Amino acid sequence: MSAWTSSAPEQLDAWRRLGTLAQSVVAAPRGRSSTPLSGGSERLGPLLIDYSKQRLDDESKRALVALAEQSELPAAIAKLCAGEPVNVTENRAARHMDLRMSANAKAEVADERRRFLALAESVRNGTWRGTTGRPAAAVVHIGIGGSHLGPELVVDALAPAATGPEVRFLANMDGHAVNAALAGLDPATTLVVIASKSFTTLETMLNAAAVKSWFLERTCDPGAIAHHFVAVTANTAAAEQFGVPQAGCFRLWDWLGGRFSLWSAVGLPIAIALGSEAFEELLAGAHAVDEHLRSAPLHRNVPVLLALLQIWNTNFLGASSHAVLAYDRRLKLLPDYLQQLEMESNGKSVRLDGERATTHTCPVIWGGEESNGQHAFHQLLHQGTRAFSADLIACAKPAHDLPNHHAWLLANCLAQSKAMREGRAADEPHRRVEGGHPCTTILLDELTPRALGALLALYEHKVFCASAIWQINPFDQWGVELGKELAAPIYARLRGKGKSATQDPSTEALANAIRSQNRVL
Ligand code: F6P
Repeated sequence: MSAWTSSAPEQLDAWRRLGTLAQSVVAAPRGRSSTPLSGGSERLGPLLIDYSKQRLDDESKRALVALAEQSELPAAIAKLCAGEPVNVTENRAARHMDLRMSANAKAEVADERRRFLALAESVRNGTWRGTTGRPAAAVVHIGIGGSHLGPELVVDALAPAATGPEVRFLANMDGHAVNAALAGLDPATTLVVIASKSFTTLETMLNAAAVKSWFLERTCDPGAIAHHFVAVTANTAAAEQFGVPQAGCFRLWDWLGGRFSLWSAVGLPIAIALGSEAFEELLAGAHAVDEHLRSAPLHRNVPVLLALLQIWNTNFLGASSHAVLAYDRRLKLLPDYLQQLEMESNGKSVRLDGERATTHTCPVIWGGEESNGQHAFHQLLHQGTRAFSADLIACAKPAHDLPNHHAWLLANCLAQSKAMREGRAADEPHRRVEGGHPCTTILLDELTPRALGALLALYEHKVFCASAIWQINPFDQWGVELGKELAAPIYARLRGKGKSATQDPSTEALANAIRSQNRVL
């Protein structure tokens, strides 16, 4: 099995050095450092990344950069950029950066982009007509995980600028979600997008079948499926079998992982809601970050620095969770998106060399919309017992005309990171806030498609860089398979089939309790 380096990370000199440096950081008072970092912020196009509230000084930053060098991170980045098979367990490249190229995009990518942007424009300008001759009033996007979270985040975030028809998302296999997604829609004016790389994912297949039945029951026109349903997939044979003809299939490639796919036709709902110009801007923002990753020196390379900070906090300062605090309502889905991006990528315990990881890998990623969290979970952040790190994300310029609200929102954003980092001394123990929690603030100039593209690409590359140092493969997700396999025989029990002996007593008892309440199962 190929690996960037053959050593486990903790065998590197820099890792040991960081261990020594961390001891003095942990032993020091937790508030503001006496030897603050010089610098501590970087501008990356429309993003300002401030990491001066990390528990970091110049010496520990130098040691972190040495860790990146000794981990051969530059070689790993070069392999990613060159399209080499960095997904070693599946022997595939991870070429999502190709999707962000414009002038010199490869033909297969450029052709596919032209096709789905043309569909998006025709839906937007009304030249796409349903089989009864009416333009689309709504689009239902069916998909889950990487085929859902990115598009929904972007559409939701940029909704104030949306000019296309209504876009709804259907991901969960919960029947309530199906009903909610279809409520009030007229199939004659609805376009359905089924996004699934595999075209076998249970949730998506169940939902696609349910939406197809809904469509057929109301239109009584099986011939209309081929026009009102399109697919985004690497498995066009299965899509055709479902009823979507070749012409309605938009291609995904084996070199594209689901959680890195919003830049492909998986982003069709983005293009429909916002237009192809905005979609191209999103790509351009991400592409600029790709160029930065490729060319910036390690000590100024923002994704590299964010990865190193994650490693510093996770492996040396004991943080087991990382909060994503969105100080902008439009980014409320960012924590959900990052949960998949980070945890499905780097929630691994086997290294590239096949050995069990002997260091911690991805922390638990969680978070929420602020300032709501300040009146909910921030108490634990300030006075709880556990170490954590946080990213606070805000936009300097809002898209509303309530300056007073915005000034208060951003004042609270800055105040929270200050409180987390510096804490407050007090005579009474219950008033004391220890501080010492490392925070990064990411400030977008304003929430444009370009800035959002840059932000998401920044996180993608941070995830890759951290994986390379941890020596794990961020591009597979074998851990999610077990639950999928176990569900099938339990489903059989719920439907009154299968043998009880195949289930453990707890599962069998729960299945019986569900069945006893249900005449429908
Ligand atoms: O179950 C996890 C997963 O495989 C994700 O990695 C992926 O984004 C999601 O399911 C959806 O997969 P697909 O696009 O093949 O339906």
